[in-house]
Amino acid sequence: MDPYKQRPSSAYNTPFWTTNSGAPVWNNNSALTIGSRGPILLEDYHLVEKLANFDRERIPERVVHARGASAKGFFQVTHDITHLTCADFLQAPGVQTPVIVRFSTVIHERGSPETLRDPRGFAVKFYTKEGNFDLVGNNFPVFFVRDGMKFPDMVHALKPNPKSHIQENWRILDFFSHHPESLHMFTFLFDDLGIPQDYRHMDGSGVNTYTLINKEGKTHYVKFHWRPTCGVKSLLDEEAIRVGGSNHSHATQDLYDSIAAGNYPEWKLFIQTIDPDHEDKYDFDPLDVTKTWPEDILPLQPVGRMVLNKNIDNFFAENEQLAFCPAIIVPGIYYSDDKLLQTRIFSYADTQRHRLGPNYLQLPANAPKCAHHNNHHEGFMNFMHRDEEVNYFPSRIDPAHHAERYPQPPALYTGKRERCVIVKENNFKQPGERYRSWTSDRQERFIRRWVDALSDPRVTHEIRNIWISYWSQADKSLGQNLASLLNMKVDI
Ligand code: HEM
Repeated sequence: MDPYKQRPSSAYNTPFWTTNSGAPVWNNNSALTIGSRGPILLEDYHLVEKLANFDRERIPERVVHARGASAKGFFQVTHDITHLTCADFLQAPGVQTPVIVRFSTVIHERGSPETLRDPRGFAVKFYTKEGNFDLVGNNFPVFFVRDGMKFPDMVHALKPNPKSHIQENWRILDFFSHHPESLHMFTFLFDDLGIPQDYRHMDGSGVNTYTLINKEGKTHYVKFHWRPTCGVKSLLDEEAIRVGGSNHSHATQDLYDSIAAGNYPEWKLFIQTIDPDHEDKYDFDPLDVTKTWPEDILPLQPVGRMVLNKNIDNFFAENEQLAFCPAIIVPGIYYSDDKLLQTRIFSYADTQRHRLGPNYLQLPANAPKCAHHNNHHEGFMNFMHRDEEVNYFPSRIDPAHHAERYPQPPALYTGKRERCVIVKENNFKQPGERYRSWTSDRQERFIRRWVDALSDPRVTHEIRNIWISYWSQADKSLGQNLASLLNMKVDI
């Protein structure tokens, strides 16, 4: 018998109960007692083990995006983009790569309703032949802040009040009143799109700017976008109350039931690219995560399709233990200097080591599906079977060597060490354009949500004034409407 083939799995179940160490349990109902009424003996190892396991069932929930649903499927290339990238999984139209996707809400706990006004996470793990690629995105194409230094404070403001444990608008509006770059994101969050109908009917976006690099070493900045083939649908505020009131897991259920019924959700993947040699020609900085790249000048280019055709077998193994990290990339795709992305490169692997332990990448959902090798070994819960005698590098005995070199963007940096804001902030233009592109009823709903938020009695006069001033700078009539509904004056 090869003990290492007998991995813990329901495939190796005995038809009778056993302890974790495999000894038969003849009674899984009654504790071992002295006499028929007790007391219970500490030597009832099975009872103690059963309780100890139960006591430790929960792991720390994600600090954000705690509530989520996942599914599996494949990504298939439909268009040749080899002129842009040497990524193996993007090489030939027709090629398929297995994926696992996790959709999520952001702010509230693991068991919170799925009908809250909140961005939605859209994280895709591609199991490519050259290692995993994690595209950890959201349903909106922009983000609240452009410098990762602000992220923990931002999350604290959006999360429930530490005293009352209630999410409160006055705290959110206080924090963001210091950060007008958030306006664009708020034109998504307070728009009808702020509550997606479910996970199947929403867009996805990589949000951050990445870099594609081809065989010759030519780079392009890139944004990734997912578009659902069944269209984008949202819940209006009253619908959300009704749907959430009757089922607080409606989006998880919709995803699971659709896949079980063979109605497989599908998204098309598009990219937008900018040649870094031309990055100065726009009125925004391509590395600014609060900006969209206008599609009329930077058109969407089709790349492939993703189909989710398999439900997960086990929620804990393939949702709770699933771990994404924007630092996980493959040859042909690289980061950019987008400051938010740079911060994310550190934060995710760090949180996974805390949440799941140092060997989280050995968990089946996270492990690469291609052969892999290095000398990172041991540590808590390391269950990789190894029988090598050489665990150092280099060695004249172990033939393992460096992988073949692959193209990477050249790094040519000069500059002072400093902490700055970007030059082209341009915080108001795109939010204003977006607002003006809506029908009047959509604009009215947006205004009503802002009036509600700003009417929180703990929003101070000063903060209300700042928001009216910000929205006036985005669109004069929007500011005036807000001011008159709140009995205020526009004071820019
Ligand atoms: C500096 C900014 C950011 C930091 C420090 C940050 C940090 C984190 C952390 C610590 C988690 C929890 C991960 C886990 O426990 O599994 C997380 C989850 C997540 N973040 Fe961020 N985040 C940032 C910005 C963003 C942005 C811009 C996006 C959208 C592109 C995003 C999308 C997600 C998603 C989708 C998840 C959930 C992944 C999953 O389903 O497991 N985050 N983030």
